[in-house]
Amino acid sequence: MARLTLSVIKADIGGYVGHSTIHPELLEEAKKRLTQAKKGKKLIDFHVTHCGDDLELIMTHRKGVENKDIHKLAWDTFLACTKVAKSLKLYGAGQDLLSDTFSGNVKGMGPGVAEMEFEERKSEPVIVFMGDKTSPGAWNLPLFKMFADPFNTAGIVIDPAMHDGFIFEVVDVYESKTIRFTCPEEMYHLLMFIGAMRKYMIKAIYRKRDGEIGAVASTQKLSLIAGKYVGKDDPVLIVRCQSGFPAVGEALEPFAFPHIVEGWMRGSHHGPLMPVPFHHATPSRFDGPPRVIAAGFQIADGKLIGPVDLFNDPSFDEARRKCNEIANYMRQHGPFEPHRLGLQDLEYTTMDQLMKKFKNRFKAE
Ligand code: F6R
Ligand code: MG
Ligand code: MG
Repeated sequence: MARLTLSVIKADIGGYVGHSTIHPELLEEAKKRLTQAKKGKKLIDFHVTHCGDDLELIMTHRKGVENKDIHKLAWDTFLACTKVAKSLKLYGAGQDLLSDTFSGNVKGMGPGVAEMEFEERKSEPVIVFMGDKTSPGAWNLPLFKMFADPFNTAGIVIDPAMHDGFIFEVVDVYESKTIRFTCPEEMYHLLMFIGAMRKYMIKAIYRKRDGEIGAVASTQKLSLIAGKYVGKDDPVLIVRCQSGFPAVGEALEPFAFPHIVEGWMRGSHHGPLMPVPFHHATPSRFDGPPRVIAAGFQIADGKLIGPVDLFNDPSFDEARRKCNEIANYMRQHGPFEPHRLGLQDLEYTTMDQLMKKFKNRFKAE
């Protein structure tokens, strides 16, 4: 059997209302397009969903990663949905589509992409994590915990299939360069890089024993692509689970700790990442706080069996409660750091303007 490719391609092509969620007609349009592609055998299967204002296309096929046909399908779907968004005058219609013409690969054109190719196992459980009002660096901490932290993942200590460890591929998003670190041997080196989650982002993780891919994340940063603020680069992540990879519960466990990520209002604030069921992926308080949903699938001969709404579980209530507490605390800082991002990381700024205006009022101290 040919290898299977799982492609998750997403874009914000119009919010309803403001940037809070998506209009059902966009989901319908996307489903219509992908149903046609499935009938035409381009796709084996698909699932269309959203996290906040981001439209998420989850697709299986046998064409490999970065395939032109699949990327064009996603691009054309986003264009069709943008048309619907414009007709409803949805907010920011087409905001993540940075180019007018498709160039063969949606990477660098605005949409976020996470894709992996693998041989389907006897049973293939996967989780697609989708975030809104945050950025791809948000996955660094949970991914480290899933694949390298023995206090999170029991398997790396007691499962012989995982005990050799994992290889982390990290991208420097400013330099467009990647580097690989082997864990546990190079764990401290790895942490020095991925702790700086604005610059160094985990792109993929491989099992050391056999090189099998375990996770892949979208690492596009829209602001770097466009050279100016064009909307948050809300990220996606695919994690394969069980039988030599983190168990489903080990992959979800890091999100019981609501760590602080960048994003939230105007992409310019720090706030806690809240794990929510699908129906609560509607960030509205100060355009947040940032959200993450987890869609679990069993893949059967390329078919997506699911999704299961994995954060729809009272065991994450405490994390959500804590998030609200942290959100209250952070909000009280108002325009002060560390709630507001540092000057160089703001997605919106009046500073350039102010520096020009007050240039002559600065006196030597
Ligand atoms: C954050 C986000 C929103 C907007 C905010 C202002 O990722 O998308 O918080 O930045 O609602 O939006 P504009 O500038 O479009 O009025
Ligand atoms: Mg938006
Ligand atoms: Mg968004």
